[in-house]
Amino acid sequence: MHRLETIRSYVNQIISGIDNPSDKENATIHLYGVSSVCAILALKRGLDAELAAIAGLLHELYFYKTGVRPFHQHSCAEMMRPILREMGQLTANEQQLILSAIYHHGDQAHIHDPYDEILKDADAIQPFLFEAGLGLAYSSLPRLMKVAKELGLQVNPEIAEAVIQPLPMNNIAMRNHLADLAEERAARHIVGIPEDHAYRDITHYWPDDHIEEVLKNGWCAAFVYHCCMQVGFNLPIRMPHSPCRLAGVVAWYEWAKSTHCFIQDAPDVLPQRGDIVVYHYIIPPENKPEEQRETPTDHIGIVLSCDENGYVVAEGNVNNNNVSGIVNRPLHENIEGFIRIDSSYEYDGWKYDYKTGQVRVIPLSE
Ligand SMILES: [Fe+2]
Repeated sequence: MHRLETIRSYVNQIISGIDNPSDKENATIHLYGVSSVCAILALKRGLDAELAAIAGLLHELYFYKTGVRPFHQHSCAEMMRPILREMGQLTANEQQLILSAIYHHGDQAHIHDPYDEILKDADAIQPFLFEAGLGLAYSSLPRLMKVAKELGLQVNPEIAEAVIQPLPMNNIAMRNHLADLAEERAARHIVGIPEDHAYRDITHYWPDDHIEEVLKNGWCAAFVYHCCMQVGFNLPIRMPHSPCRLAGVVAWYEWAKSTHCFIQDAPDVLPQRGDIVVYHYIIPPENKPEEQRETPTDHIGIVLSCDENGYVVAEGNVNNNNVSGIVNRPLHENIEGFIRIDSSYEYDGWKYDYKTGQVRVIPLSE
């Protein structure tokens, strides 16, 4: 099968899985529309139209598959990484060009590489072409005008009303909110089976097929991720250059250390409500998958309270037994440390170039 055909059949399969008919229609129009504009811009700029068209077809698939909007560009690049590799029809360099374009496509205010720019430009102009300028986001205007000039088009877009963003919570309120939510969810004794609606809610951020089965007996980190996303502490499914996705304890541990919000356990350290506790060697070896037997950090939960008698923790998948619960744990036993998220923390993956991992911030106007 021709590779563009392979991609189309993959995209069509995901679109056919969208339940809501109008969402299905929007996905089809947007993905195929952006893909066509990508091909036109590539031809105009002397680049490969097929690669640009592929990037356009794939660029929002994470959002259309999961319904998760925050940082969907970064999660989509992570979703497509193994898919493109396993497809076996694109070179490593071609895969990088496509993934980079997907990763950066939401950053319309900055300039990246030529294929990244094609996708950003196409994503800005396609809604305008489809709805003749109805309600264009203000942030898309500079790009739209730039592309219109390049193509010699006269456009006069209407700008949509700005959406007012809520003020961020202070850090104590946010961590309390996180603990409240984790407590309520964990107390439901959610079971890690596809039939449990609450479990499907916890796993729906992860785009792999049969994810409920994949995470069975291993969803403590997915539970923490779900609680964070529910209270507005948004992260993509994988941090740039992290060894694994945030469905794994190691990813949380590595991220917290790299952002200095990790507190190593020590005799004088007591956590607060809403801290995330990272355990080590707490899961019995017979309950661990073969490949994780040597990994020290093996469990994670959200602290509800702490006193001289111990911790009370909300956990998904308590002891890898596939059921959520609220558990009492002794102080300083099997504790690696605590993640204390500050509400001033902002995910800054947009600053890093996908291909090099280096900081790259070049404003569009320059
Ligand atoms: Fe888009």
